[in-house]
Amino acid sequence: MTKIVILTGAGISAESGLGTFRDVDGLWTRYDLNDVATPEGFARDPGLVMEFYNARRRNAAEAAPNPAHLALARLEAALPPGSVRIVTQNVDDLHERAGSRAVWHMHGELARARCASCGAGWPAPAEMRVADACPSCGVAATRPDIVWFGEMPYRMEEIWEALRAADLFVSIGTSGSVYPAAAFVQDAARAGAETLELNLEPSEIARDFDRGLHGPASEIVPVWVEEYLGARR
Ligand code: APR
Repeated sequence: MTKIVILTGAGISAESGLGTFRDVDGLWTRYDLNDVATPEGFARDPGLVMEFYNARRRNAAEAAPNPAHLALARLEAALPPGSVRIVTQNVDDLHERAGSRAVWHMHGELARARCASCGAGWPAPAEMRVADACPSCGVAATRPDIVWFGEMPYRMEEIWEALRAADLFVSIGTSGSVYPAAAFVQDAARAGAETLELNLEPSEIARDFDRGLHGPASEIVPVWVEEYLGARR
């Protein structure tokens, strides 16, 4: 069974109306990531961080999956179970809402909250507040279940195992500027996988890939999926 590992970044959700981070009007051009995406920023001003993620949660709830998300769900449904694994850096739920089932969120999820005291997780309320008490331990130590800079991404052992077993690694909509995700292409290539970049334009790590297709994800991802499935009919 061919195993495909697909890494996605903010670019796959851009045409759903969710901002990217490093493009011209990206989130990090409007917010200082040290204030809203680090444990130190949260300790300094938890209210600012809660409002930042409440606003992103509202935006994500109003967004819809675009043809790129839907094409990946079609790919998964057309292949034997277990053939496709999405590892997303994104914290929105557009892959799931498009119908993808095998999705790992290595940077966490807007839809979840976590207790900084006991580690319990639960579905995030629409408006998370600093004073919210943990439903498990009762301590008012609620935080967004988002992996911040300086914290270890989720599921890394499982991700590295999937990359070692991959026959094909596809990177979609990511600038390749944040590790460890930016090294996944090298991990997969070392294990013998073919590697493909699908991005609006060549990323910082485009030279690490065997092939590249460039253009808006909502156009090039369905084209690639149809090409891939057509070659196997
Ligand atoms: N279609 C395809 N690619 C696109 C589109 C589009 N419509 N629009 C933008 N892109 C590409 C850009 O060319 C860029 O390479 O998506 C990429 C977005 O890069 P970033 O803004 O850096 O987002 P990402 O790579 O997901 O960031 C990685 O950084 O801040 C952290 O945790 C955050 O998960 C995020 C991580």
